[in-house]
Amino acid sequence: MNVDRKGPTPRDAMQETGGANNHFDAAAATWDDNPTRVELAKAVAGAMVAAVPLTPQMAVMDFGCGTGLITRELAPKVASVTAADTSVQMLAVLEAKAKASGLNHVRTLLLDDGYLQPSGLSFDAIVSSMVFHHIEDIPALLTRFAQWIQPGGWIAVADLEPEDGTFHKDSAHEVHHGIDPAWFRAEAEAVGFSVKSARTIHTIRRQPEGADWPREYPVFLLAARRMTF
Ligand SMILES: C[S@@+](CC[C@H](N)C(=O)[O-])C[C@H]1O[C@@H](n2cnc3c(N)ncnc32)[C@H](O)[C@@H]1O
Repeated sequence: MNVDRKGPTPRDAMQETGGANNHFDAAAATWDDNPTRVELAKAVAGAMVAAVPLTPQMAVMDFGCGTGLITRELAPKVASVTAADTSVQMLAVLEAKAKASGLNHVRTLLLDDGYLQPSGLSFDAIVSSMVFHHIEDIPALLTRFAQWIQPGGWIAVADLEPEDGTFHKDSAHEVHHGIDPAWFRAEAEAVGFSVKSARTIHTIRRQPEGADWPREYPVFLLAARRMTF
């Protein structure tokens, strides 16, 4: 299998946080109204639970948590969830939902300077869904995950497989047109993760605005453990 070590080419020069923030802040209040997103999050969370042995002792980070669709599914199974995002409004929605559900072990973390800034974090597992295609420097974020995760700890990352550029109707908030799972696997291994599973776990079906026919957008999940050496 060919693996492109350079990875996907950034579509534009958008910074990791700047352009995305406004879009996600504006979308936060109605984010959960979209049944396709809710269905995807349920499928991803189910696949994460099947791939990663979550326990009531675990401290988990949900990176790019949005309104907490994944957090909500995983929180009852673990000791704590740190829900991290660059969008203040997404975190505000998540906080309100967590409070209403009595999920007192969910805390939010605003990554206002992006993911390169926080240090000294430590988790037993980091999960992330539909975030990496918004990240310009994917290997840098995987390196960060390797620093934040305990030896033997888990990551579970779900994202779009390569698509034709029709997934986002507004190209201002995207960076990559999906991610090649084989390339992603190689990058995870390069920073010290041992990949336990990597497969397509869901297919989003929808008709892009202005298109004549529906498209299929497969989503993969990669689950890996940080090697202990
Ligand atoms: C497509 S949404 C997915 C939200 C959630 N994971 C879900 O599955 O419903 C992408 C999320 O990533 C966040 N995000 C974008 N860039 C980020 C970055 N550099 N660091 C952390 N979060 C980021 C956005 O604010 C948004 O909440």
